[in-house]
Amino acid sequence: MPAMKNIVVLISGRGSNMQAIVKAAQAERWPARIAAVISNRADAEGLAFAASHGIPTAVVSNKAFATREAFDAALAQAIDGFQPDLVVLAGFMRILTPGFVEHYAGRMLNIHPSLLPSFAGLATHRQALAAGVKVHGATVHFVTANLDHGPIVDQAAVPVLPDDTETTLAARVLEQEHIIYPRAVRMFVEGRLRVANGLVRIDAPATQPA
Ligand code: GAR
Repeated sequence: MPAMKNIVVLISGRGSNMQAIVKAAQAERWPARIAAVISNRADAEGLAFAASHGIPTAVVSNKAFATREAFDAALAQAIDGFQPDLVVLAGFMRILTPGFVEHYAGRMLNIHPSLLPSFAGLATHRQALAAGVKVHGATVHFVTANLDHGPIVDQAAVPVLPDDTETTLAARVLEQEHIIYPRAVRMFVEGRLRVANGLVRIDAPATQPA
């Protein structure tokens, strides 16, 4: 049995991706525990779900710090108190400093609601509709200093339909996020992701002993 890995999840709001990961970890008996859910906003809805599942929660409010560096230092201290093997950004809406990103190099994942490298940044569904693309989607990637451009672990595509609004498109993408993010996190905790030259290679799952 491999050692249990500690996952710390960072959220800013609803936390539906965090919920999908918590549920998959329990249902599929991952060799991992969600050690904590940390938010930069005290009013993040996802905190109540975490608490109701017995997961420790913490709030590190960015408003309490004068600089990004000071906030990121306090955030890292809170995260490291849970001895994370993996930090999962799940709708964590903060730009991170290079020092913070470096500290978690190779052990921090993010989900972005577009098929990267298209549509980095905010309002990705609006960007997709404005560009007239016929497929859109979501990407799980390792976090690097280059915002929304780290090594890609997994992606899912959805059609863009003629009558789509940002809301309908976002909902279609979110459904896929809830599939690919737990799957990617699981591959990480199983030790199956290898990054070389900015590309992710995925090892086959270990075969079960008969
Ligand atoms: C998700 O769609 C996620 O991809 C996006 O925020 C939403 C959070 O939803 N993340 C970003 O835009 C990151 N730049 P959730 O809180 O319900 O998981």
